[in-house]
Amino acid sequence: MYASSTASPGTYDVLVVGGGVIGLVTAWRAAQRGLRTALADPAPGGGAAHVAAGMLAAVTELHYGEQTLLALNLESARRYPAFTAELEEATGRDTGYRACGTLAVALDADDRAHLRELHALQRACGLDAEWLSGRECRRLEPMLAPGVRGGVRVDGDHQTDPRRLAGALLTACERAGVSFHRAAVIRLLCAGGRATGAELAGGERLSAGQTVLAAGSRSGALAGVPEGVLPPVRPVKGQILRLRVPAAYAPFLSRTVRAVVRGCPVYLVPRENGELVVGATTEELGWDTTVTAGGVYELLRDAHELVPGITELPLVETLAGLRPGSPDNAPLLGPTDLPGLHTATGHHRNGVLLTPVTGDVMAEVLTTGRLPDEARPFSPRRFANAPQELPV
Ligand code: GLY
Repeated sequence: MYASSTASPGTYDVLVVGGGVIGLVTAWRAAQRGLRTALADPAPGGGAAHVAAGMLAAVTELHYGEQTLLALNLESARRYPAFTAELEEATGRDTGYRACGTLAVALDADDRAHLRELHALQRACGLDAEWLSGRECRRLEPMLAPGVRGGVRVDGDHQTDPRRLAGALLTACERAGVSFHRAAVIRLLCAGGRATGAELAGGERLSAGQTVLAAGSRSGALAGVPEGVLPPVRPVKGQILRLRVPAAYAPFLSRTVRAVVRGCPVYLVPRENGELVVGATTEELGWDTTVTAGGVYELLRDAHELVPGITELPLVETLAGLRPGSPDNAPLLGPTDLPGLHTATGHHRNGVLLTPVTGDVMAEVLTTGRLPDEARPFSPRRFANAPQELPV
């Protein structure tokens, strides 16, 4: 281990900055390995996952040029069933994991051509994805619009409920002995050329042998982190809606349905408890989290074109969150060039999907100092090209 687990009170082996699902899973896994672990966040269990739909969409969210990320996404999807079983066993809480599959559909000729290209890329990557006619899509999902022209059936892209997942991780951390500090971190502390902990709002200082920056979109803005080490993470706004499917309308959709409608991605994620999540916009607007009439209108308009029956459903929540975007859309996992400081951030569209593998990777690196093979391409050092001044 890097640090003693018999440290004096108030000092820790590991301090995790940020209590979203990524910070929580890191803290849980670290504590399971016997590390004396603390987590600082004013409201742990919140963050981007509180807004997210929870699609585990390694195959249907594939993009050109992201094959390296695909490997990590697939690995995390593969770990999801065992991860869920372990977490539910440890906490007695249901996380809403549902092996339901996904159907991506197209409405017009342009969107169909786009979907054909995605399907070709999926096949070229050796992924399971079956092209269906419009009629076959409607046979699977009778609520789809008559105009659906074709689709891709992906039986391996599932879902979980991010709010339940966060709640279970919180309980798991508590049971594993993680110390929670419910306050904002205002500054990273450094001494002797290494990170030594963090200062909280209110002035309390936490000391730790290793600090993990897992503060989502805020990870790129923490005071005290030397400039060349600050992760290049930015907020990417997503607006999302929650509708409710009354029992009389069920089953409304049996799996996640998604599409690109006139160039705009939209998805509908049906949960077993009757919630139907419709998402999401992608907006580069800094820290703005306003829910706008335009955002809600566009999501409802596009979702209605796919599934006309949604206008009958009660709209129960509108919300906007901030994805932690990185320059290559991939996470930054493991040690930085500042000794004692790690990052677990930049998961962008894949934070919920990448939760299991992130926990495993971070626990491994925190206990052994070694970044596992699957995480090597995602070292934060890939962005650390500029000469930098580290604290002395
Ligand atoms: N992965 C879905 C989203 O980011 O909207």
